[in-house]
Amino acid sequence: MALFVAFALLSGMVVPSSGRLYSHSILPNFTASYTIFIDNSGAFLQSPNATFRAAISNNPNQQLPQFYFSVIHSASNTIIWTANRDEPISDSARLLLTANGLVITDDFDRIIWSTRSLESPVAFLQLDDSGNLVLLDRGNVSLWESFDYPTDTLVMGQRLQVGIDFFAGEYQLLLTGFDAVLQWNGMTYWRLSMDDRAFKDSNAPASFMSVNGSGLYLFRDDGSTVVFKVTLAPINATGLDFVFAKLGSNGKFTISSYGGNELVQNLQLPAEDCIIPSICGEIGFCDTDKTCSCPSGFHNGIGSCVPIDPFFTLPKACNTSNSYGSETSDQFSYMKIGDAIDYFSTDFIEPLSRQINISYCQLLCSQNCSCLGVLYGNSSGSCYPIRNNVGSIFSSIFGLGQEDFSGYIKTMNQSSNVDPSSKTGAGRKFSVTGLVLLTSSGGFVLIVIVVGFLWWRRRKGHSGAVVVRLGSKNSVSAEIDLLSIAGLPVKFEYEELATATDNFKTQIGSGGFGAVYKAVLPNESVVAVKKITNLGVEGKKDFCTEIAIIGNIHHVNLVKLKGFCLKGKQRFLVLEYMNKGSLDRVMFDNESSVLEWKERLEIAIGTARALAYLHSGCQHKIIHCDVKPENILLHVDEHLNQNLQVKMSDFGISKLLSPEQSNLLTTLRGTRGYLAPEWLTSTGISDKSDVYSYGMVLLEIVRGRRNFSIQLQSNNSHHSPLSTPKLQRLYFPLLALEMHEQKRYTELVDPRLEGRAKSEEVERLVRVALCCLQMEPFRRPTMSNVVGMLEGRLPVGQPRMESLNFLRYYGGRYAEAVTISTDGCNGISEFIMDFDHP
Ligand SMILES: *[C@@H]1O[C@H](CO)[C@@H](O)[C@H](O)[C@H]1NC(C)=O
Ligand SMILES: *[C@@H]1O[C@H](CO)[C@@H](O)[C@H](O)[C@H]1NC(C)=O
Ligand SMILES: *[C@@H]1O[C@H](CO)[C@@H](O)[C@H](O)[C@H]1NC(C)=O
Ligand SMILES: *[C@@H]1O[C@H](CO)[C@@H](O)[C@H](O)[C@H]1NC(C)=O
Ligand SMILES: *[C@@H]1O[C@H](CO)[C@@H](O)[C@H](O)[C@H]1NC(C)=O
Ligand SMILES: *[C@@H]1O[C@H](CO)[C@@H](O)[C@H](O)[C@H]1NC(C)=O
Ligand SMILES: *[C@@H]1O[C@H](CO)[C@@H](O)[C@H](O)[C@H]1NC(C)=O
Ligand SMILES: *[C@@H]1O[C@H](CO)[C@@H](O)[C@H](O)[C@H]1NC(C)=O
Ligand SMILES: *[C@@H]1O[C@H](CO)[C@@H](O)[C@H](O)[C@H]1NC(C)=O
Ligand SMILES: *[C@@H]1O[C@H](CO)[C@@H](O)[C@H](O)[C@H]1NC(C)=O
Repeated sequence: MALFVAFALLSGMVVPSSGRLYSHSILPNFTASYTIFIDNSGAFLQSPNATFRAAISNNPNQQLPQFYFSVIHSASNTIIWTANRDEPISDSARLLLTANGLVITDDFDRIIWSTRSLESPVAFLQLDDSGNLVLLDRGNVSLWESFDYPTDTLVMGQRLQVGIDFFAGEYQLLLTGFDAVLQWNGMTYWRLSMDDRAFKDSNAPASFMSVNGSGLYLFRDDGSTVVFKVTLAPINATGLDFVFAKLGSNGKFTISSYGGNELVQNLQLPAEDCIIPSICGEIGFCDTDKTCSCPSGFHNGIGSCVPIDPFFTLPKACNTSNSYGSETSDQFSYMKIGDAIDYFSTDFIEPLSRQINISYCQLLCSQNCSCLGVLYGNSSGSCYPIRNNVGSIFSSIFGLGQEDFSGYIKTMNQSSNVDPSSKTGAGRKFSVTGLVLLTSSGGFVLIVIVVGFLWWRRRKGHSGAVVVRLGSKNSVSAEIDLLSIAGLPVKFEYEELATATDNFKTQIGSGGFGAVYKAVLPNESVVAVKKITNLGVEGKKDFCTEIAIIGNIHHVNLVKLKGFCLKGKQRFLVLEYMNKGSLDRVMFDNESSVLEWKERLEIAIGTARALAYLHSGCQHKIIHCDVKPENILLHVDEHLNQNLQVKMSDFGISKLLSPEQSNLLTTLRGTRGYLAPEWLTSTGISDKSDVYSYGMVLLEIVRGRRNFSIQLQSNNSHHSPLSTPKLQRLYFPLLALEMHEQKRYTELVDPRLEGRAKSEEVERLVRVALCCLQMEPFRRPTMSNVVGMLEGRLPVGQPRMESLNFLRYYGGRYAEAVTISTDGCNGISEFIMDFDHP
């Protein structure tokens, strides 16, 4: 022990200074980055017998340099664990070992990844001979082990616990007590128990999985009873020193071994490539000779087969709640994708129905937006849906089922929605650009990018097709009217909405754009209808932007657009109905019952998730630009255990930015009180401006009142029953800053909660809020990091006092009711600006 510590101390001192020697153990206050360790290809830690190394290394398969902190099996160069798999860092970004654990920060010192909070201070970081990266305390007790946080690889000696999943892109390995299940986008395509080589030894539930040179084992919690095993063909054990199981992003779960300088794959699950859901891309057909092709009537798109006829588009799946009824079913038609075929899910799900005819089978599919096609078994009349995502199809000889299916894919005929008179007019063009890229890794990969632009000359008042103009007023680029094809919401007639709203009788809110009414559709579903007013000349553009954006964005924390309506100059949006209304009403209204702390946490996290999704989860980065309680809507489901749902609305006013575009916005919008300082200066608006507004909202959630308010002075120390109560202007963010400095967080909580808030959670929220409010946008965390901090996955950063001092004087300025320059704003901004409190 003494020797070990002495050695650890020694090597720990050597490494940071030279940056060249491998070490077996590292002490805190250690920093690494790729540039520091460039001589040793980023490696700085080695296991005692040199089998494994830990390194900050580049993934050679990627075009851009992207660096990961990984544990690598040295001889075979196999990555067995990665800390920041989904968030690569640059060559100069750092890994830090402190007494609190390991942290990876990016070039702006933002936390990308970190170990969870530990029970006692770290004394060493070690990599052992089985490949486990371990943080030990002074008593040599393990505080954290990489084996407990596996990514996609299981090595000899490691246990994969039930409940911990492997992820690799769209694929997932799910360990249940009784089986190991492979899933694609949440849909099962293989079970370990189905494999010919799998044997069940015990009926007890399994507790963990492990792998060794004989095979894959599921053990009971006693650690010795084998529940399930998949045995490998005997491996030449001489010189065998490394066995691992890995889930690839190609959907294959493999067991490989390394021995005698050779890496050999010993087992693949599922054994048959053709049943892997994305093996041939969307609608690609995996033939008996294991080649991929597109069914007739389709040709190669980007990783998928698309209808040759450009007017046929494939609908996107809905998300559970925005289902549509039978009234829309006639807008779909079905294209045959083959006979004597099968689809991965038919062995794992129940059919929609049995003993029905094909037209009824298709009708059932048309009535459900999560159904994207059907597999119809002619002999039994069974009808299976293709759900949520379309995978590859395969020859029925690979299927388990006895049945041959005929496949049909749901399509929409774009042209049938268009006013026939517009089709005869000029100006309809269709262009297809084919691009062939050759990549060097592993031979030739052909990527055919087909970009179909449908150019339409807009006709005033024509129905169906909605046109979105991309680019701002200042943009010099040609005005391209891009037909929004997929996800186009349902178009309603004005009369339908008038009936549904009982002639706009029940107003339930007024957003930035106009009044919101409650409506009941003929199928008895309740929706919200937003009547857009005050739009002026910009109206049509904003309206179309909002439709196109909302219609194509699906996230549990974002309000869904169900439809729209155009009548003359009037515009309506049909939106998901949220029965509790907006957060400002629920929280600031003295009449309504107090929001409990747990609900506030859910609201804070839900809102953060919504923004994180807008900022990085969608194809285009979307800046909300108007984050405030009015735009956070709540719903309590009476049937689902009173479940509280939190959704953001009004992201239609945000701008659409392509990833290449700068993060600058030229048009200013927003609501005073939530506007980041950069709105007032000439610096650019970015997603970090939303982070600022979110910080403001977070403080309001903690306190349950507006950040800027007038309240009765309550100075307890000088309180005298005779003194007349005095009105006091209060700028809460400043109070929060002061209480943070004195660590008196609980005093900031809404007094109406009467102490029903956990003090460490209050501290967390306030600190996160202050991090979000920092003056310099780059110091504010990303919304994804905010989510991580709120959920406790990431340590909460320490806000810099120098970056918050502006609040002291900003608060003063608010008291003087400064007017904000609205240069660059259009008319709507004035309208929204008006909204603030005295
Ligand atoms: C690490 O650095 C901090 C601050 O510089 C110091 O307080 C601490 O003692 C150092 N820890 C070790 C183990 O050197
Ligand atoms: C390194 O140690 C591990 C665990 O003790 C052992 O399985 C492996 O064979 C050793 N490798 C070498 C090259 O000595
Ligand atoms: C310290 O840890 C190492 C490996 O992690 C172990 O082999 C050794 O026995 C431990 N020593 C003590 C005193 O617990
Ligand atoms: C692998 O583990 C099983 C179950 O513990 C055991 O029976 C078998 O001997 C082990 N094989 C090797 C090569 O260690
Ligand atoms: C097993 O591996 C050893 C060392 O790699 C080799 O010499 C031997 O020929 C192998 N035996 C068989 C049966 O492949
Ligand atoms: C298919 O079945 C439905 C419902 O059972 C029936 O109404 C319809 O007439 C059938 N169609 C054909 C072509 O047999
Ligand atoms: C649509 O299909 C999904 C998935 O099978 C199902 O959960 C949902 O209830 C269906 N919706 C309707 C309206 O039938
Ligand atoms: C389906 O079955 C019917 C009668 O069972 C038969 O007439 C028809 O030819 C079959 N169609 C296909 C495509 O096999
Ligand atoms: C698509 O719709 C248009 C207009 O209704 C129609 O003329 C055309 O034949 C349809 N195409 C197909 C393949 O059904
Ligand atoms: C619904 O959306 C959520 C969030 O984007 C996604 O995780 C989930 O898979 C979607 N569900 C379906 C049925 O598409």
